[in-house]
Amino acid sequence: MEDNPLQNELISDLLEVQNLSVNFETIDRTVEVLRSVSIRIEKGDAVGIVGESGSGKSTLAQAIIGVLDIPPARIIDGVIRFNGENILQRKTKSPNFRGKGINMIFQEPLTSLNPVYSVHDQLEEAIRIDDPTVDAKKREEIIKRNLREVMIRDVEGVLSVYPHQLSGGMRQRVSIAMVLIQRPQLLILDEPTTGLDLIVQRKILKLILNLKEEISSSILLITHDLAIAASVCKRIYVMYAGRVVESGSMRVVLSSPSHPYTIMLKNSVPEGYMDEGPLNVTSGSPPDLRALPSGCAFHPRCPKAMAVCREKVPELKKVEDEREVACWLYE
Ligand SMILES: Nc1ncnc2c1ncn2[C@@H]1O[C@H](COP(=O)(O)OP(=O)(O)OP(=O)(O)O)[C@@H](O)[C@H]1O
Ligand code: SF4
Ligand SMILES: [Mg+2]
Repeated sequence: MEDNPLQNELISDLLEVQNLSVNFETIDRTVEVLRSVSIRIEKGDAVGIVGESGSGKSTLAQAIIGVLDIPPARIIDGVIRFNGENILQRKTKSPNFRGKGINMIFQEPLTSLNPVYSVHDQLEEAIRIDDPTVDAKKREEIIKRNLREVMIRDVEGVLSVYPHQLSGGMRQRVSIAMVLIQRPQLLILDEPTTGLDLIVQRKILKLILNLKEEISSSILLITHDLAIAASVCKRIYVMYAGRVVESGSMRVVLSSPSHPYTIMLKNSVPEGYMDEGPLNVTSGSPPDLRALPSGCAFHPRCPKAMAVCREKVPELKKVEDEREVACWLYE
């Protein structure tokens, strides 16, 4: 986890995760949840992380924003640099990490919202933290404007309500309104549309794209749904069982997926559905991380598995300019 300050001067990425490995450790077992995960996000980038349930997406996001539950989680190895600084070496989390630095809309939006504050009071508090000099009248204006921007029609009705009284879609909108106030450099969205109906999903995705333009944030979108990632992101990382198995530009990966798992994900999106909305049906189930298959963890589901696949883990290797793949087919 050593950091080289001289190297930092050469880094132009907003976020760089290098070889991050995380375990969940209890008295009787150790589960390897992330293995040598490397991702990078440039300023203004929209990057997607796609993978089935249990592939480690939320664990990665929590490690980046510094809310991993340690223990039982343990960071075994790796570096996470934000604006060139290795944030894993910070002794305390700066408020930067929940405000203007990195912010996150959690898989369960109730996590982002404070249950004991009304919508009005938490938005007002966010404005106060962002800029203590803003007076009460201006604060009211900002609150109402931001709620309207996230397409909440009954602004007055929502203001006095508490988070648990809102529907899932409304909670997501309020979380997004909060982020609009905080204007982070990097916004992580963990499954922002899970559990929402198709129309609300589309509205939320549109909002996210508008937000990216408006506050010039970089975006890390986490989803199990390739169609959703394709509608927002320029680059993609495909995760399987705690590892990145393919990465590259969204255009290249979508037009010709290389890793058999990415091919399976792409085939699970029905023809024409990429523009229509999400659906995810793949054959077989994600592996149990407590008893991972030997070699390439995908081998029991892979139609192209060979003998070597059962024995050795393939490393992520550059196969062309805009693509890396971890698969013995490309050795
Ligand atoms: N606090 C914890 N203690 C032990 N194991 C955990 C803990 N949190 C997560 N895990 C395990 O880590 C693995 C990865 O979980 P994670 O939530 O990162 O996956 P995910 O890709 O976000 O899945 P989903 O799509 O379902 O949200 C899972 O096997 C999960 O059971
Ligand atoms: S390494 Fe082997 S089992 Fe794994 S995806 Fe490639 S071909 Fe399939
Ligand atoms: Mg998750």
